[in-house]
Amino acid sequence: MAGVRNLMLFSVIGQLIFGCCNTVFSATKIHINSTDEIEKFELFNHQFRRNYDVNNQQEYYQRKINFESSIRRHVYLNSVSKHLTNHSAKYGVNQFSDLSPEQFRETYLTAQAKVVPKYTPLKHGNSLKRNLPTKFDWRDKGAVNPIQNQEACGGCWAFSIVGAVESVHVKNGGALKQLSVQQVIDCSYNNHGCNGGSTVTALDWLNKTKEKLVSQSEYPFKAKNGMCHYFAPSHDGISVKNYQAHNFSGQEKEMMARLIEWGPLAVIVDAVSWQDYLGGIIQHHCSSHNPNHAVLVIGYDTTGDVPYWIVRNSWGTSWGDEGYAYIKIGANMCGIADSVTAVFL
Ligand SMILES: *[C@@H]1O[C@H](CO)[C@@H](O)[C@H](O)[C@H]1NC(C)=O
Ligand SMILES: *[C@@H]1O[C@H](CO)[C@@H](O)[C@H](O)[C@H]1NC(C)=O
Ligand SMILES: *[C@@H]1O[C@H](CO)[C@@H](O)[C@H](O)[C@H]1NC(C)=O
Ligand SMILES: *[C@@H]1O[C@H](CO)[C@@H](O)[C@H](O)[C@H]1NC(C)=O
Repeated sequence: MAGVRNLMLFSVIGQLIFGCCNTVFSATKIHINSTDEIEKFELFNHQFRRNYDVNNQQEYYQRKINFESSIRRHVYLNSVSKHLTNHSAKYGVNQFSDLSPEQFRETYLTAQAKVVPKYTPLKHGNSLKRNLPTKFDWRDKGAVNPIQNQEACGGCWAFSIVGAVESVHVKNGGALKQLSVQQVIDCSYNNHGCNGGSTVTALDWLNKTKEKLVSQSEYPFKAKNGMCHYFAPSHDGISVKNYQAHNFSGQEKEMMARLIEWGPLAVIVDAVSWQDYLGGIIQHHCSSHNPNHAVLVIGYDTTGDVPYWIVRNSWGTSWGDEGYAYIKIGANMCGIADSVTAVFL
């Protein structure tokens, strides 16, 4: 019965998207039946080490229902993109597959975007005089730390700006250091710690107070809110000299030039569809209307059919492509150019 219901649902989606269903969703292509789904769910539980309380049947079934909706979402997301272009993003099972979209949003999509002024080349940087390299990656300069995992703490905004500070420090001739994200989560009083925050507000706080970021080993990540720990002004650390925040929508080529000139850029995207992302270049299913997640753009590549941004996320290495996402350049995909910040040390 479940199989029949699923097929009907696919047909409805197929009709909505394509206005026709018989070519895209034929019954022979879909192998979802209840036995199959239970097996996939058990495999997921094993792979992501879920240990549900055996006395809490309700949680188990709720997770299973969420998982089954995820599987249906993956079929839909994959079927639309694979017909259109090369290297399309792929969607499938990952550590978020037993969360409902609402649960995912509540925990992980907690960044707040500020409206920032439009970027104007003459005022804010050198205009595009020279040709840009066809690809550029701050990892090639040894300026990017390994992928971090924010766990169930909505501190993406802190991870993205601390990542930017780490990279700009190397760009300025310093050594690659891992700096304290927890310090920003605990001490940026104008944000909400693990409940969310804004990259611009956090950079404004760092720029005003000149608070020095200490190393991660001195102030380790706890994945929850804590009291701000203060250090003596003489204590070793890295402080911010200035920052810029701009809307680069329609000017992604300028944004590429600034990425090279200024260092990795902390941006806020709409990451609703990222719950299911497994790799490939995101070219569809990613609106720019609802900014909700902060990440760090560390490079770009324009050598293939589809030019893309290289984006460092903070959801661990089991998410996306070893923790990274690729986003098509030139269409403000996911709103990647809407709220862009650079930091200066
Ligand atoms: C469920 O689907 C699998 C293929 O994915 C098939 O081998 C199996 O026979 C199906 N089970 C039922 C009960 O239809
Ligand atoms: C896919 O890539 C190949 C080779 O790179 C190219 O010839 C083809 O036109 C591309 N197709 C689409 C739909 O972009
Ligand atoms: C950052 O702080 C400096 C003073 O140290 C100030 O001149 C500058 O305007 C500040 N930047 C922003 C964007 O507020
Ligand atoms: C950024 O600029 C574009 C075009 O100038 C505009 O449509 C968009 O609403 C702006 N985004 C934000 C978040 O202000």
